Amino acid sequence: MTVAVYLPLEEKTRWWVDQLSELLPGRNVWPLDAVTDPEAVRYAVVWRPRTGDIARFPNLRAVVSIGAGIDHVLADEELPSGIPIIRTTGRDLTQRMREYVALHVLRHHRDMPRQLRAQAEKDWHAIVVPVAPSRTVGVMGLGNLGAAAAKTLAGLGFATRGWSRSGRDIPGVETFAGADGLDDFLAGCEILVNLLPLTGETHGILDESLFGRLAPGACIVNCARGPHVVDDDLLSALRSGQVKQATLDVFHQEPLPVDHPFWSHPAITVTPHVASQIDPGTGARLIAENIKIFDTTGTCEDLADAARGY
Ligand code: NAP
Ligand code: GLV
Repeated sequence: MTVAVYLPLEEKTRWWVDQLSELLPGRNVWPLDAVTDPEAVRYAVVWRPRTGDIARFPNLRAVVSIGAGIDHVLADEELPSGIPIIRTTGRDLTQRMREYVALHVLRHHRDMPRQLRAQAEKDWHAIVVPVAPSRTVGVMGLGNLGAAAAKTLAGLGFATRGWSRSGRDIPGVETFAGADGLDDFLAGCEILVNLLPLTGETHGILDESLFGRLAPGACIVNCARGPHVVDDDLLSALRSGQVKQATLDVFHQEPLPVDHPFWSHPAITVTPHVASQIDPGTGARLIAENIKIFDTTGTCEDLADAARGY
């Protein structure tokens, strides 16, 4: 039984092949491009596969996403229909996202960009900011990562809201559900964190209309996917002041092109899709475990619902 591995960077593919080879004794783990017997491949472990990569393997049992999102797998127009997709989750992924969200929400809450500008001007700018309970923060998406982020923010004392498709009870978090709940969720929201999966329904959701329904001068933290944001709408909301600042970890095109206006925008913080990366240590253990479970039972907890898109 062969496991084929593909990531866009060759050295990363090698890294994952080495880790998975140790954890899956008795299986052949190969870089996808080095596979000589496509019929023997049962699992494809991938991040951003190229069009047609998966369709090469006629006896594939499942695709494993090296990530919580499966949008990068579904983007392959030649993906065989009905192929199971296993995502990768886990404690480290959640922990890293909690840290990222806490860092950037607190940074907006305490107006660190303004403090740093004041320091550059040697200006003793002793501002008083509201305390967290008087700051309304909203988290879009209440799955593994969004729910953990919302709990972290509530734990810091923020007036925390959460929005999801079907609704969810989270102690200390005011929750809203579906399209009908979106207006109430957004109204008065001062810091918005996006942790939705990228699907046909959520593509472009962070647009002019949504920005206009937030509290004036709101801040945005997007740590889900770049295409959730309509870039031109964000730039114009920043120009008008409806949005004051944004932290963006993910982009339509990654790496973010050097001539993209986000790089040098004074109100935008760019991070290079590092909010919560899966590392080949713990990540490979989770993937190997999922492959073993799926191989014997035909299912596993991290099986995504490909028809739903997440
Ligand atoms: P998840 O467990 O699949 O949860 C998704 C959540 O979004 C669920 O609460 C779901 O609602 C909600 N949702 C889906 N479609 C919706 C819609 N149309 N309207 C309202 N709510 C909707 O996902 P996760 O593991 O938390 O990950 C979320 C995303 O984070 C991933 O898909 C990935 O894109 C991104 N991510 C980014 C990084 C990074 O480093 N930047 C790292 C990991 C993941 P229900 O509960 O009702 O189903
Ligand atoms: C990273 O972006 C992931 O989907 O895990």
